[in-house]
Amino acid sequence: MNADEAIQKINDRTAKVVVVGQGYVGLPVAMRAVEVGFCVVGFEASVERVESLLAGESYVGDISDDELTRALHGGYTPTADPAGLEGFDVAVISVPTPLRDGLPDLSYIEHAGRDLAAHMRPGACVILESTTYPGTTTELLGPILADASGLAEHEFFLGYSPERIDPGNPTHGLVNTPKVVSGSTPTGLGVVDAFFAMLVDQTVPVGSCAEAELVKLLENTFRHVNIALVNELAMFARDLDVDVWRAIDAAATKPFGYMKFTPGPGVGGHCLPIDPSYLAWRVKQHLGHTFRFVELANDVNEHMPDYVHDRVTAMLNRERKAVNGSRVLLLGLAYKKATSDWRESPSVHVAARLSASGADVRFCDPHIPDVNALHLADSMVPFSPEELAAADVVVVLVDHPEFDPAFIAEHAALVFDTKNLLAGHEFTGELL
Ligand SMILES: NC(=O)c1ccc[n+]([C@@H]2O[C@H](COP(=O)([O-])OP(=O)(O)OC[C@H]3O[C@@H](n4cnc5c(N)ncnc54)[C@H](O)[C@@H]3O)[C@@H](O)[C@H]2O)c1
Repeated sequence: MNADEAIQKINDRTAKVVVVGQGYVGLPVAMRAVEVGFCVVGFEASVERVESLLAGESYVGDISDDELTRALHGGYTPTADPAGLEGFDVAVISVPTPLRDGLPDLSYIEHAGRDLAAHMRPGACVILESTTYPGTTTELLGPILADASGLAEHEFFLGYSPERIDPGNPTHGLVNTPKVVSGSTPTGLGVVDAFFAMLVDQTVPVGSCAEAELVKLLENTFRHVNIALVNELAMFARDLDVDVWRAIDAAATKPFGYMKFTPGPGVGGHCLPIDPSYLAWRVKQHLGHTFRFVELANDVNEHMPDYVHDRVTAMLNRERKAVNGSRVLLLGLAYKKATSDWRESPSVHVAARLSASGADVRFCDPHIPDVNALHLADSMVPFSPEELAAADVVVVLVDHPEFDPAFIAEHAALVFDTKNLLAGHEFTGELL
């Protein structure tokens, strides 16, 4: 099958699509592909997740059970059986790319590549979506696909398209966020672009896979560095007795040359604590240089939970209370507002530090009523006047919409607000 034929199959929606990895990124892509008319196999290594999907129970906040059930009736087949990959025309890989001992762990991409290669025909198209350092698609994935399939690299199409999903964002989703697309060859780019053009309003073709890989890391490093900047500023501003929150709001009135970032208890999720380190690793590995901005941002952001711990300790001290034995209610376990994702969440680090100092730590998060980790599940409490009032100090770590600031101000005896949620309300306590 040549590129024109591959594009034709995409355009008339007879192309068989597989999405490898049905997580926060892969599941929404699969749902959208079904919605526009493709038959889609959601290939997922976790049997537990496949069972949940088959039962119409979504574990991804942005996908409702109704949407999943509609997809199951409309051409979506979740499976953990590699036989489901047979005869695919387009494959999207959205598997984890974690750090292991501080280094990029690309083993999930390697596995996915080998699984796909075993079922790959000439003319198939493989698109990597996992976040990774520049060079991964053509230097790692391409050779794996060719070696394991026995096909020459010109017999299949290969590309990279970064995911820009922002879990919980009510305005910008997969469809209306421009999608950067790339190919290992101009014809590969044509096929990748044709596929995503069916799924999103606007594609943004770039010159190479490495360029597209860098786009994602640039976006996330930009956020990471700017959050570190305001975090460090917040700590200094307090010592200088200046209200950093009001200064940030005032600066944000500038209509050009400024972008608003706000301080917080640290960074979390699957992107910011990890992705910049992929770029730093690549720079070190290939050029021998230290990516100083990334190192500095890591240092500042990773220490924010310590800073929160120290501020809480000092606040309790002023009340003539020791942190040891005090009841601390943490509002928000997710890594950011309106999401149920608590991977790498700074709240967990704050809790660990306070627990280590002897505090009786409880969590409240309406987006995460039930967590799998037992030690956390035991300490989950409802967002109630009783819990707020019973705490020696309430720490606002996430500005979930359910956390009514007036309610917190009314019932909590002492508040440490790391998100400026209680702005404009009378309360006893302090801002970050
Ligand atoms: N979550 C986000 O907001 C976000 C945003 C942009 C990019 N990304 C990137 O997208 C990638 C995926 O992230 P995610 O948040 O969807 O992760 P996730 O952990 O939610 O989902 C990944 C899924 O892939 C499955 N999996 C792992 N290896 C597999 C294999 N060989 N075959 C089939 N399934 C396999 C896992 O079981 C898991 O369900 C990562 O590289 C991440 O950095 C994430």
